[in-house]
Amino acid sequence: MKKIFNKKIISLFLLVFLSTFAFGQELVKLTDEASIDKVIKAMTLEEKAKFVTGMGMNASKRVPGTAGNTYEIKRLGIPEIVVSDGPAGLRIGGITGGKETYATAFPIPAALASTWDLDLINKVGVAMGKESKAFGVDILLGPAFNIKRDPLNGRNFEYFTEDPYLNGRLALAITNGIQSQGVGVSLKHYAVNNQETNRMNINEIVSERALREIYLSAFEYVVKNGNPWTIMSAYPSVNGEFASQNKYLLTDILRNEWGFNGFVMSDWFAVKDVSKALNAGNDLIMPGGAKWGTSGETADDVLEALKNGKIKEEDIDKNIKSILKIVLKSLSFKGNVPSNSPNLKENVEIVRQSAAEGMVLLKNEDKTMPFDTSKKVALFGKNAFDYVTGGGGSSQVNAAYRVQLLEGLTNTGYKVISENNGVKFAEGIKDSDLEIAVKNSDIAVISIGRNSTEGNDNFTMETTKEETDLIKKVSEAYHKMGKKVVVLLNIGAPIETEDWKDYADSILITWQPGQEAGNAVADVISGKVNPSGKLTETFPVRYKDVPSYGNFPGTKTTVYYGEGIYVGYRYYDTKDLKVQYPFGFGMSYTTFKYSNLKVDKNSLDVTKNDKIKVTVDITNTGKIKGKETVQLYITQNISSIDRPEKELKGFGKVELAPNETKTVTMYIEKRDLSYYDVNVKDWVAEAGKYTIKVGASSRDIKLTTEIKAIGNTDKYLVTENSSWSKLQENKNISKIVAKYIGYNAVVEAVWFGDKTFGKFLTEQYEKNTELKGNVEKQSKLTKEIIDEINKMYN
Ligand code: BGC
Repeated sequence: MKKIFNKKIISLFLLVFLSTFAFGQELVKLTDEASIDKVIKAMTLEEKAKFVTGMGMNASKRVPGTAGNTYEIKRLGIPEIVVSDGPAGLRIGGITGGKETYATAFPIPAALASTWDLDLINKVGVAMGKESKAFGVDILLGPAFNIKRDPLNGRNFEYFTEDPYLNGRLALAITNGIQSQGVGVSLKHYAVNNQETNRMNINEIVSERALREIYLSAFEYVVKNGNPWTIMSAYPSVNGEFASQNKYLLTDILRNEWGFNGFVMSDWFAVKDVSKALNAGNDLIMPGGAKWGTSGETADDVLEALKNGKIKEEDIDKNIKSILKIVLKSLSFKGNVPSNSPNLKENVEIVRQSAAEGMVLLKNEDKTMPFDTSKKVALFGKNAFDYVTGGGGSSQVNAAYRVQLLEGLTNTGYKVISENNGVKFAEGIKDSDLEIAVKNSDIAVISIGRNSTEGNDNFTMETTKEETDLIKKVSEAYHKMGKKVVVLLNIGAPIETEDWKDYADSILITWQPGQEAGNAVADVISGKVNPSGKLTETFPVRYKDVPSYGNFPGTKTTVYYGEGIYVGYRYYDTKDLKVQYPFGFGMSYTTFKYSNLKVDKNSLDVTKNDKIKVTVDITNTGKIKGKETVQLYITQNISSIDRPEKELKGFGKVELAPNETKTVTMYIEKRDLSYYDVNVKDWVAEAGKYTIKVGASSRDIKLTTEIKAIGNTDKYLVTENSSWSKLQENKNISKIVAKYIGYNAVVEAVWFGDKTFGKFLTEQYEKNTELKGNVEKQSKLTKEIIDEINKMYN
């Protein structure tokens, strides 16, 4: 009996023991947000260390040829997450070590941006998302949208613009497109990744105001409006700490201020100190796996840091939690079975359309373009035979084909001559060959091209002597015969046109248009597509005009962002400097009229969630259908601190048949009037007057109107009792006072501390022999000064 009892007890005990064990082993699985804490608790320290470091370069067996992947923990139901580049289409297949799979090579982001067409860009995003899904990629490493601070940055082709407002809207449009397919984005590179020279070590010294207004603002916009799954921290150091280890950027601003809810991964091999990165809020260290240049695994460093207390377990748990929240959303977690056969055909039309719509017509004398296929074309320039369809580095795409220029022109029906006796018409062309070309063609098309890639900056904005000579020589020969010359710019960033632009009859920036390059260029040349692209970056006359000149790319260790907030047109327009082609500029084969600029009310209460509706009518005054991008800029008439002459705060694109008129509607809100006040650590919209400028480019303002900001008036309602020390913080007030009572008085006033404005004036009159004793003038002057100041702001 005793024996039986004992046996029973033992088996019961075993059962309980085994089921508890099984419970721990099997029942803890990642299922939903509520399961995350339990899953983390069930992870071993080794697993934690591996989970926050990727698995190494191209390590995914499930989706070969991708940039990276995360650690799979089967027993906890955590799948591997696959991440892949990039901004111009999915980087997968042959070029990245995978098998020969193809994806669509879209136009470079600089080209997409020039469309100013948020719906079209969204469509591109959807197409990229679909391809990622088809190949089993969970997160697409893009969009890339660092500010184009300097035209020589080697990655400008991958980025959108020099303007933060436009940048945010473009980045959101593509983010929404990609994420609509259940694929996450990785907004990159956060932040201030504006040069390639010494990118992994350079320390960038940027003022807080420039950081907020220029470099962070688009990231802020997408984080607040687009729910991006991930963000990629950048290589360089920002104000003394590497972006991937920068708590101020990654936690204080990104999460605490903006409410970011995804996870941060580092750029590839960016992290120098794993504990600093993880503690700062960089949740995933990429690519992980074997360390660069030394032996050992990245995960070992994390494990060691966990053991020696440099990373606390509760802190790494936060990193893991951020990643797991996104894992839950991923296609891999949801059991997506990749088809491995995306509908590439469907995307061809999107590539061709977005490529053509992004092209920017800079010059078109005597309607040189479009011309029909009855005209025989001669093709010149070595670039014409090796058209650049996209940029290098992580923007490479293994496309199934790339339509060259010659092929595109021929496909469209043009007869093209491009060589004589097997010698192509390129730089250094012989006179005899040129003669043959002129004789056998009606028009010359010359192509100038540039390629670039991450890892290198460009060296110059100039065209080479050979290129300039070719343009001059060909133009002279063609013009002599009354024939025209078109120059195509197959570029990713501005180049100088000053030395040769007068020779060309027509200049078209085609950018690097993706795999349908030749066809898309032919669409614009032939007029099938009326160009509507506009520049999202200024083309300066010479490189030496750029605001960062002298401060780019810095020394071996440091680069000073000495131009502050004056980047791009903010600089050129404030300085009133001649530029080659201004921000927002781009011609059409038709013409447009701007009329009827209206605001639905004149004042905006900045203490409320207030908006002003701005409308303007656009009419197509030409003979063919066309599209126009309308731009809205704002100028604060008088401000207490330096502000750019104008800033873009709205835009809209409309398609119009001949004689058709459409109304473009844009909205202005508090943020559009604000600057970042480093003292109050917030965006401030000062009370007072602002001018709304609506136009076709930053230098072609067609209509203006004035509005007022109200609700924040305390600072500038000046009375005799206002404290002088407060008022003289404002240089404009000081300027007005100086106008009446003299410059010296204002300078001296610095020492007057908290005297009231009235007392300060009285004292100054005492010193001023001309005014002394003239009581009538004194009191009038006080009133005049006060009235003038108040008029400025109110
Ligand atoms: C680039 C990133 C890219 C990553 C993975 C890095 O060199 O800076 O933009 O996503 O590589 O390929």
